[in-house]
Amino acid sequence: MSDIIDVIRNRQSTRAYTGKLVDNNLLEKILEAGRLSPSARNTQPWTIYCTSRKEVIDKLGAGFAAIGRNLFVKDCGAFIAIVEEPLPEELKMHRRYAEFDIGMCIMQICLEAESLGVSSCILGSYDEDSVKTVLGIPKDKSVAMVIALGYASDPTVRPKARKSFDEAIKII
Ligand SMILES: Cc1cc2nc3c(=O)[nH]c(=O)nc-3n(C[C@H](O)[C@H](O)[C@H](O)COP(=O)(O)O)c2cc1C
Repeated sequence: MSDIIDVIRNRQSTRAYTGKLVDNNLLEKILEAGRLSPSARNTQPWTIYCTSRKEVIDKLGAGFAAIGRNLFVKDCGAFIAIVEEPLPEELKMHRRYAEFDIGMCIMQICLEAESLGVSSCILGSYDEDSVKTVLGIPKDKSVAMVIALGYASDPTVRPKARKSFDEAIKII
């Protein structure tokens, strides 16, 4: 088994893609990593929508072009939207954990993708209505986050811009 730190070091936000579509077998593994993600009280407050169909990616790309953000989406090889599902009344908790849960789900997806040679970019800037329309997500649902996946035009791993170990971590 390879050390996951290598996958973590190699994962980076990829903002230029070749246009090559991600094969369904790979996509299923990537999505399975999201499905298996932990969540508070195992509530799994998500539905994961995904496409690797060129005609759908074209429409998603047009939605991003319309808001002038994340213009590289048109060239990605797959696209994921994570819908936050409301919790059943009896499972309502004193803290809201759904965003943590979805964050972990996203990270598992991105790390599995990286381990399979598929690059990714988590995207907080998107037109929610456009994403919902193109992917057929019901209007009353909330899209928590989206992810572009695909093959990097330039796979060079950049140095990580991060706080230093001492700044970020206090070992007492
Ligand atoms: C919640 C979240 C939202 C983000 N939204 C965007 C985005 O809309 N567009 C983009 O290019 N990158 C986006 N990013 C990527 C971050 O800018 C990136 O993770 C950060 O700069 C660290 O770089 P790295 O991912 O290459 O290590 C987002 C990341 C997160 C976690």
